[in-house]
Amino acid sequence: ENRAKQAMLSAHQLVGKLYHYVLTETPYGKEAMTYLSKRGLSPQTIADFQIGFAPDSWDFVTQFLQKRGFSLDQMVEAGLLVKSETGNIFDRFRGRIMFPIHDSQGNIIGFGGRLLETASASRQQAKQPKYLNSPESPLFNKSANLFNLHRARPFMRKRKQALLFEGYVDVVSAWQAGFHQGIATLGTALTEQQARIIRRNVEQVVLCYDGDAAGQEATAKAIHILQEAGLIVRVAPLPQGTDPDDYIRQHGPEAFSQQVLLQAMPVTAFRLKHLRASHVIQDETDQARFIEKALAIVIELNSPVERDLYLRQLAEEYSISLDTLKWEARRLYKQQK
Ligand code: CTP
Ligand code: MN
Ligand code: MN
Ligand code: MN
Ligand code: MN
Repeated sequence: ENRAKQAMLSAHQLVGKLYHYVLTETPYGKEAMTYLSKRGLSPQTIADFQIGFAPDSWDFVTQFLQKRGFSLDQMVEAGLLVKSETGNIFDRFRGRIMFPIHDSQGNIIGFGGRLLETASASRQQAKQPKYLNSPESPLFNKSANLFNLHRARPFMRKRKQALLFEGYVDVVSAWQAGFHQGIATLGTALTEQQARIIRRNVEQVVLCYDGDAAGQEATAKAIHILQEAGLIVRVAPLPQGTDPDDYIRQHGPEAFSQQVLLQAMPVTAFRLKHLRASHVIQDETDQARFIEKALAIVIELNSPVERDLYLRQLAEEYSISLDTLKWEARRLYKQQK
C-alpha cells in the first residue's frame, strides 16, 4: 500500500513537471500562455506555482506514464487517468490549465484544471465544467488539504493571519500582488478539518470570497465553521460581481490592501450590513421587525462590551433609546434560552 502511494506521488510529480513544460516550453502551450498573460499572470508567478497545461489529447499523459512503467490501473486510482465502462483508459485532464495541489509537505497530490476557453476549443469541450479537480484518491483528501498551504504557511504565521479565498486564481493573483498568506479550499465547501488546520497556524482569518450570491452564502457557512474552530473571523468586502482576482487586476495591490483587506469587518458588523441590505424599511412596522432581527444577531456575541457597542450603534442609527434596546435584547435572549 505504501509502495502504491509512492508510485502515485512520483507520478504526480512527473506529470506536474510535464504539464508545466508543455505550457512554458512547447507550441501546445502557446494559446494557454497567451491567455494567462492576458489575465496578468507573470512568467515568474507561473513558475512559482508550477502552473501547467494539459494538451487536448486523449492519451498524452497515458502514453507518458506507460513509457515510464507505471501501472495504468494504479494511475486511474490516482486520478490522473480515467477508465471508461468499456475498459478504455485515457487522460482525465484535456485542454486545461493545470494548477498543482500540494499537501502540507509540498508533494503534489492532485490538480485543479481550468478549461481554456478559446475559439479553437472543440465542441466536445464546450459542455465541460469550468473547473475539473482530481477525484478523491489515496493521495488526495479534499477535506484535509488546502490549496497553497505549504507555501503560505510561513507568511500566515508571520502575519498571524490567513486570507481564505474561493478560487485558485484568487490565491495566485494575490500572491503575485504581494499577499502571500492566501489559501483556498479545493472546489468543495470549507470543512471542520480544514478550519482546524488553519487554527493550528493562525488565530485570525480574513474571508475573501467572491462578491456574488454564491460567495455570500459560502461566507455565512464558513464563518460558523471557522468560529467553531476557535478562529477570529473578519469578512473582506468585495464589490458586487467581482472576485479578488478581478479586483486586484482592476484596482491594483495597494487598493486591495486599503479598500478590501483593511476594510474587513467583524462578523457581527458583516451580518448587520447584510441584514440592512436585504431589508426595505418603509414604516415603523418594518423598522421594528428589522431591529428585532438585528438584536438577534447582537445577542449572539459573548462579549458584553461588544454587545454594548453594537447596541449603541443601533440606538443611534435608528433613534431608539438605548434602554429600550437593552430591554428588548434581554427579552429576546431569555426567549431563546
Ligand atoms: N469550482 C469547481 N468546479 C466548478 C467551478 C468552480 O471546483 N465547476 C471551484 C474551483 O476550485 C474554483 C472555485 O470553485 O477555483 C471558484 O470558482 P469561480 O469563482 O467560478 O472561479 P474563479 O476562481 O473565479 O476562476 P476564473 O477567474 O478562472 O473564472
Ligand atoms: Mn513575492
Ligand atoms: Mn465564485
Ligand atoms: Mn471567482
Ligand atoms: Mn475569477
